[in-house]
Amino acid sequence: MLIFALPVLLAAVLGTAPSGADIYAAKCASCHGAQQWGSPDGPSLHRVGLADVDFYLSTGRMPAAAPWVQVAHRDERAGQQLPLAEIRVLEDYLAPVVAGGPPLPEVVSGNDLEHGHQLYEMNCQQCHAVGGDGGSIGRSDWAPALHQATIDQVADAIRAGPGEMPRFGERQLTQSDLDDVAGYVLAMQNAQPGSSIPSRSSGPVPEGALGYLAIIVLMTFVFGYWRHDKGGSIK
Ligand code: HEC
Ligand code: HEC
Repeated sequence: MLIFALPVLLAAVLGTAPSGADIYAAKCASCHGAQQWGSPDGPSLHRVGLADVDFYLSTGRMPAAAPWVQVAHRDERAGQQLPLAEIRVLEDYLAPVVAGGPPLPEVVSGNDLEHGHQLYEMNCQQCHAVGGDGGSIGRSDWAPALHQATIDQVADAIRAGPGEMPRFGERQLTQSDLDDVAGYVLAMQNAQPGSSIPSRSSGPVPEGALGYLAIIVLMTFVFGYWRHDKGGSIK
């Protein structure tokens, strides 16, 4: 009995787990071409690197709904993203084609936040803004907010340089630089307004803290005055 059931079971298992080639043919080939050499609707994927593939797939930028449209806001891409299992299978399938570009980066959250902050100010802030809010970077381009990016996506973006973003190789940002700047991006995500990310300059954080201090002083004063006044009237 079990022997007869086996092929059915196998088919069921295979049916739920399509191969990388199947996924590529169904979801990518129409724009990137059967042999990944591109078409009028999409660029060649040869030698783009796994960091690039992982960035575009894991952030839901690919498979694109329409070619040549920068959909940088995550909400507008919701539902477009492939399941993680399919992304991994597809990456294995594309690995030999994309080899030659930046490989999948290794990254851990660095613990030198001060250094991460410096690197962020020098390399990222002009586009992604103080606090990682993103913003316009030209006539029709914008840099997205960094609040939802995972640590792997931060590392992918740094090494791959998607769209208008420059590519940072090992010479611009070493492995430990990468860890520190990624750690800082995560720290920005966790920071509540007014909480302290280490900051040497008089950025918004110390200013915010000063604001709170001013309010406290003012309130103490007003409260004290009010008490005094009340005390006076009792007398
Ligand atoms: C509707 C057409 C379309 C489909 C479908 C599509 N892409 Fe794309 N893809 C594009 C275009 C156009 C670009 C150029 C960049 C952009 O628009 O952001 C691109 C860019 C890319 C890049 C970055 C290439 C580079 O030069 O850095 C990768 C990687 C990629 N696509 C992978 C995929 C994969 C894998 C799939 C299938 C899951 C897929 N794409 C489906 C149109 C498409
Ligand atoms: C010249 C401007 C520019 C600089 C400098 C820059 N970026 Fe970007 N970044 C962009 C643009 C534009 C995109 C969107 C690319 C696209 O969608 O095609 C992006 C995308 C990203 C994303 C993906 C966000 C998401 O949720 O989809 C991350 C993460 C990121 N950048 C991190 C960084 C970090 C970290 C640095 C500094 C080491 C940096 N960027 C430097 C312009 C820039």
